[in-house]
Amino acid sequence: MIIVHTIDALFEATKSLKGTIGFVPTMGALHEGHLTLIRQARSENDTVIVSIFVNPTQFLEGEDLDAYPRKKEADSKICELAGVDILFMPTIDMMYEADELAISAPSIRGFILEGTKRAGHFDGMLQVVMKLLNLIAYNKPSSFRAYFGKKDAQQLALIEQMVRNYFINVEIIPCDIVRDRDGLALSSRNIYLSMEERKKALSLSRSLKSATTMILKKELNVERIKKEMLLSLSEVEVEYVALVNRQFKSIEQVEIGNTIILVAGYVGTTRLIDNLWV
Ligand code: PAJ
Repeated sequence: MIIVHTIDALFEATKSLKGTIGFVPTMGALHEGHLTLIRQARSENDTVIVSIFVNPTQFLEGEDLDAYPRKKEADSKICELAGVDILFMPTIDMMYEADELAISAPSIRGFILEGTKRAGHFDGMLQVVMKLLNLIAYNKPSSFRAYFGKKDAQQLALIEQMVRNYFINVEIIPCDIVRDRDGLALSSRNIYLSMEERKKALSLSRSLKSATTMILKKELNVERIKKEMLLSLSEVEVEYVALVNRQFKSIEQVEIGNTIILVAGYVGTTRLIDNLWV
C-alpha cells in the first residue's frame, strides 16, 4: 500500500494505473462499516483508493470537528490489511484556499431532515466529495466507481444528484448499512457513548424495527407508523422521525420498494442517525 499525503503524490501514484478504480472516501476512525465498503471496492476493482480527510467545511459551528476521532496509525493498518492500494491523507491547506467557489445543496433533498438540522453541512460535504472525485479521476481511469453507505441516506442521494447534475464520470455504488450485533448502526461517533448511553442508543434501530413490523402487518399509514416509532424513542432526544420516498419527498402512505424511514436524535451529547430502506 502506498500512503500519499500530497496531491502531487496522488497524481503520481494514479498516473499509470490500468483497469478500474474503486474509491472509498472517509473521515477515518475506520470501523466495520467503512471496511465493508472497502471490501466491496476490493472485490470489484483493479485498484482500491481510500481517502481519510476530516473535512472542516461540513462541520458546523459548535459541532465536533476538534473532537472528531483521528486514528491515523490504526486506520493505515486497517487499510493495509484490507488490501487497499493507495491511501490518500491530505491536509486542509492542500484541499482548500481562502475564498472558495461554493456548491449548494438542492432544495428538496438538501433542506429537509439533516439539511434543516445541520444547515450548510451538505454544502460542505458536496464540496469535498466533488474535490475528491475530481482528484481521483484526474488521470482519467478507464472505469471509476465510488462507494458510499446507505447509513447516510441523504448524503448518498445528494452525491448521486451532484454526479448527475455536473456530469461527473463516476459510478456511485450504494452499500448496505452495517450494524453491531445488538442492532446499533456502526458510526465513528459511537465511541462518544458511555455504556448507559449505548443502551439508550439501541432504541434508534429498535424504532426502525417496530416500523418494519407494522409494515409487514400491512400498516402503511405514515402518521401511525411515526407515532409508534416515537414510543420506542422515549430515551432519545428525537430530532426527527421521517418517512420519505427515495426522492426524499414526504409521503402519507408507505410505498414498498420506494420508502426510506429515517430517525435522528441525541443520546446525551452524541448525535446519531439511522435509517431503513423498505
Ligand atoms: P464517514 O462518516 O467516515 O463515512 C464514510 C463512508 O462510510 C460513508 O459513505 C458512510 O455512509 C459509510 N458508512 C459509515 N458508517 C456506515 C455503516 N454503519 N454502514 C455502512 N456504511 C457506513 O460520510 C463521510 O465520512 C463524509 O461525509 C465523506 C463522504 C467522507 C465526505 O467528507
